[in-house]
Amino acid sequence: MRIAFTGDLHVDISQRNWELVPYMSEVLKIIDPDIFIIAGDISPELGDIEYCLDCFANLRCHKLFVPGNQDIWVLSDEMQRQGHDSYEKYYFYLPELCRRNGFIPLWMEPFIYGGIGFIGNIGWHDHAGAGSGEGEFLKSYRYLLDSIWNDMRWACWSDISMMAEGNSPPVRRPDYEVAREFNLRLDQDLENFAHDQSVKEVVVVTHYPPFSELSIVGMPFPGSRDTETILFSHPKVSISISGHIHDRRDALVRGIRAIRCSVGYITRDQGKYQDVVKNCLEVIHLIDRDDFLPKAQA
Ligand SMILES: [Fe+2]
Ligand SMILES: [Fe+2]
Repeated sequence: MRIAFTGDLHVDISQRNWELVPYMSEVLKIIDPDIFIIAGDISPELGDIEYCLDCFANLRCHKLFVPGNQDIWVLSDEMQRQGHDSYEKYYFYLPELCRRNGFIPLWMEPFIYGGIGFIGNIGWHDHAGAGSGEGEFLKSYRYLLDSIWNDMRWACWSDISMMAEGNSPPVRRPDYEVAREFNLRLDQDLENFAHDQSVKEVVVVTHYPPFSELSIVGMPFPGSRDTETILFSHPKVSISISGHIHDRRDALVRGIRAIRCSVGYITRDQGKYQDVVKNCLEVIHLIDRDDFLPKAQA
């Protein structure tokens, strides 16, 4: 089974990010994967996400999407005051948009193919892992600090119980509660696969990195430490695909292969799209039952 994935396409950031997507789609047609995964952060604008997913309309494979933090931002104080929030995007607009464009909303619909279970979840962060100080952060990772501030402003997970008590919106849930909610959902989805005989191994796709080993030295860990405890407690989990940090990683963390391969913010000096795609589109192979010839032909 051939799995291609990328993340952090950020089509709203620059024209080069926007133009990369149809190019990537052409490359994927040649790769011809069985599964194509996007690990979040396309754009805060639903229209941009629609454009991006539509660019992959001609791919024959199964297409899976998990939202990133920027995909759930509500980029207007006025909209937030009117009660529009990130839950609305996460549970309603984004799943609809995926289905309309031939993508499986993986955080809503776990998927099984060739004995491999796929689970998706935005992840989220609880700010439990403080770094050693802003002065030491590498300039190229400055956007990770900006992301914390932007999430505080634009990620709006409303506390519905507070609104029911007559408080005017938005009343936001704290990040640790949001992280706990998504971790619980992840644990439940994994538990379901644990009891499913047809699932031999599990690929978990999160936008935020699940392991502190995926952090950048000197930066706060942009995830929740409970996520890794959950992944380690389910022996079928063999692969973790994540995004949010704009670089490339392939590490083995206590028996789980943890991979990240993001587009990020493309700069002028990054050369031709051909070269950019090479660094932001990963292809991995998993052995499934279909890879073996039936006994009669062996
Ligand atoms: Fe990103
Ligand atoms: Fe992100």
